[in-house]
Amino acid sequence: MSDAERVNGAGYVTVRVPAKVNVQLSVGGLRADGFHGLANVFLAVGLHDEVTASPADGLQLTAEGADASQVPLDESNLAARAARLLARRHGRTPGVRLHIAKDIPVAGGMAGGSADAAGALLACDTLWGTRTPREELLAMCAELGSDVPFSLVGGAALGRGRGELLTPLETGGTFHWVFAVADGGLSTPAVYRECDRLREAEGGGATVETVPEPEASEDLLAALRSGDARALAGALSNDLQAAAVSLRPSLADTLKTGEAAGALAALVSGSGPTCAFLTGDAGSARDVAAALQASGHCRTARTTTGPAPGATVVRTG
Ligand code: C5P
Repeated sequence: MSDAERVNGAGYVTVRVPAKVNVQLSVGGLRADGFHGLANVFLAVGLHDEVTASPADGLQLTAEGADASQVPLDESNLAARAARLLARRHGRTPGVRLHIAKDIPVAGGMAGGSADAAGALLACDTLWGTRTPREELLAMCAELGSDVPFSLVGGAALGRGRGELLTPLETGGTFHWVFAVADGGLSTPAVYRECDRLREAEGGGATVETVPEPEASEDLLAALRSGDARALAGALSNDLQAAAVSLRPSLADTLKTGEAAGALAALVSGSGPTCAFLTGDAGSARDVAAALQASGHCRTARTTTGPAPGATVVRTG
């Protein structure tokens, strides 16, 4: 059967997949495999990419959206790697056209590339009718990248190991966020390297022998459970923030601008450079976004809420 022929009758499958913010990102020492052990509390938020899979003879990749020109369309694209991995697992050729409608900032610390990988896996699995068990999909996600499993599951979760070993977390309400999107991205490996460099410069060392094993904060988990934004604001933390600000000092001004405009708390999102602001309600989020936009300290400011669902099939045809 040709790859271009329909397997399960679907002409296309569209999957919506959320961005994330790390409400706690505690970074342990550098491991022998080049990764860092984490206590990583993910919260999915309502900025989305959509990945559409449709039959094709080979693997094709296209992207649309304001940041589409920054999306690599070659072999390095995580969505393309996801389609190849799934095809290999099922002994088939990756005959699929993947189209990414991009709304998550590229290289912004919001897991946009990971979202596309999780979206492509679910879209191809549905299009091809391969019915991969959830556990296997999650294992494939982990093979593709540390943040990819969370993009599949969404909601809120604690990530241990390098971030891929997930425990779902209970949340008691909706949190209102503003994201200040910077011009240009930051490389995740470069930010981790800078974190190690800063730790060494402080004289404490940066390896697993010297950095304590990171633990999830009980206060933070309780704040998520209760849905109390003020309590969550007091418990937010990101060990990569100093490194991101060191590489991009202007982020300090962005963080201050949002705090001055009434945000309950401000932090760098993941490895940055997107900055995240937790607010008390939707009105306050609009005020903070307007102040950030007017300040010129960011390219654009977006309001949204979390938690949001993980990768979901939203259309088939
Ligand atoms: O897993 P992923 O491919 O997203 O990781 C990208 C890079 O980020 C890794 O190659 C590594 O340099 C860094 N990283 C890390 N520790 C983690 C996750 C990522 O050092 N837990």
